[in-house]
Amino acid sequence: MQTVCIDGLHYDLAAIEKNCWQRIINGSLQKRNAFQTPVVANAGASGINMRTVVLREAGAAKKQLSFYTDNRSGKWAELQRNNRISWLFYDPLDRIQIRAGGIAALHHNDELADKAWSGTSITNRKNYLSEPAPSTETEHPVSGLPTEFEQADPTAEQTEAGRKNFGLVITSIQWMEWLWLNNSCHRRAVFVYNEKESFTANWLVP
Ligand SMILES: Cc1cc2nc3c(=O)[nH]c(=O)nc-3n(C[C@H](O)[C@H](O)[C@H](O)COP(=O)(O)O)c2cc1C
Repeated sequence: MQTVCIDGLHYDLAAIEKNCWQRIINGSLQKRNAFQTPVVANAGASGINMRTVVLREAGAAKKQLSFYTDNRSGKWAELQRNNRISWLFYDPLDRIQIRAGGIAALHHNDELADKAWSGTSITNRKNYLSEPAPSTETEHPVSGLPTEFEQADPTAEQTEAGRKNFGLVITSIQWMEWLWLNNSCHRRAVFVYNEKESFTANWLVP
């Protein structure tokens, strides 16, 4: 892949693609990293649905991005119907946006979901203890949690009740797009993954 020099800055598509994954991986590892809470979007019954999630794992080699969710949630049912999914990251300090898209695999009660569940904290597990299910309409503003868990954290044993609701969504990324708001001269590039190890890359007009 060719590199170019403009106004004293060196542009290298392969290095930018690598840097995108480094940024995303850091987002999955560092609290308060701008890339820790991306937006994921998919097709719903009445249009596109978007929501913020916590990026749980990113793998540059496998080109995968993961988040956890309640398998009673709207997005889970939508992704069961149509597994195409997009991710949106923005770092306001570096003024870098990354968009990525691919195919979602839904894991529930399998080896990967069990491994992910075993690494979750009690605080995180609380998210899967709501009764009734997420998105159920209620007369008053409620957390959905059993009252006892509103006052005090459940024990590790009590959190096991949430396990049946826990879902892991792994996206196999097919394309990624980088946009840098570089003052007056923005830059943009797209990467399309052909196979696991190879990709095509192009500059785009921002
Ligand atoms: C900072 C932040 C992080 C969130 N992380 C998650 C998450 O990791 N998984 C999840 O299912 N919902 C998460 N949510 C809630 C979703 O944005 C959304 O409101 C909820 O999952 C219901 O979405 P749905 O009805 O489209 O399924 C998060 C919300 C915020 C504001």
